[in-house]
Amino acid sequence: MWKKVYEWLDERLGLNDLYKNILDHPEPKGTWWNTLGSAALFLFILQGVTGIFLMVYYTPSPDHAYDSINYIMNGVAFGWLIRGIHHWGATLMIIVVFIHMLRVFVTASFKYPRELTWLVGVGLFILTLGMGFTGYLLPWDQQSYWATTVGTQIAGSVRFIGDFILKALRGGPDLSALTLQRFFAAHVWMLPAALAGLIGVHLYLIIKHGESHFPSKED
Ligand code: HEM
Repeated sequence: MWKKVYEWLDERLGLNDLYKNILDHPEPKGTWWNTLGSAALFLFILQGVTGIFLMVYYTPSPDHAYDSINYIMNGVAFGWLIRGIHHWGATLMIIVVFIHMLRVFVTASFKYPRELTWLVGVGLFILTLGMGFTGYLLPWDQQSYWATTVGTQIAGSVRFIGDFILKALRGGPDLSALTLQRFFAAHVWMLPAALAGLIGVHLYLIIKHGESHFPSKED
């Protein structure tokens, strides 16, 4: 019965071809260091899932942001746990992505034919930092308010275009409801969408070129 269902679907969707192209490859000759990319992918998905739960209660307005986080921590069942996982997951993801990047650099895996995998990775690194930067403001407490004030000021110190960057980030000359709204939009839609797209390209390139490995005697 299941075989027939599978054959029916396979004829229409090409499941066998998909399996052969994506999953049916020789086992990579990697070490534990080669698991960091998958760990980063796992953390990205974890952040997405916990973030969706947090969004059920979080309100991105200066009047309600702090209180909504307070409610998540003290009023919602397991809210503290979901927020805790999201908070520490963010830190861990930045660390894991950074060590993954170092591993790729040390093993020189950015060389031909993986130059594009590396370049896409640089984009992923910047976007991951962007997720941290935009997420930090969302609790709208003293710490996040002043950290973002300083962070946007640093971005604003770039020569010639600094003023434009500062106003674009803040939605005006100062931190306001507009800043919180656009940081929220960037944190839950723009940056995750860009990350998901680039991760797709990254994984395609990894499947296409296979994992690099140090040459052994047989090579
Ligand atoms: C969200 C962030 C990222 C995710 C989810 C991700 C995911 C992955 C995965 C699953 C692999 C295959 C397993 C492995 O070698 O660890 C990989 C390999 C690779 N990644 Fe990433 N990566 C990310 C960030 C980066 C960054 C920041 C760079 C460099 C700037 C980078 C460059 C590469 C390269 C060149 C490879 C191929 C390595 C090889 O063949 O040995 N990645 N990545």
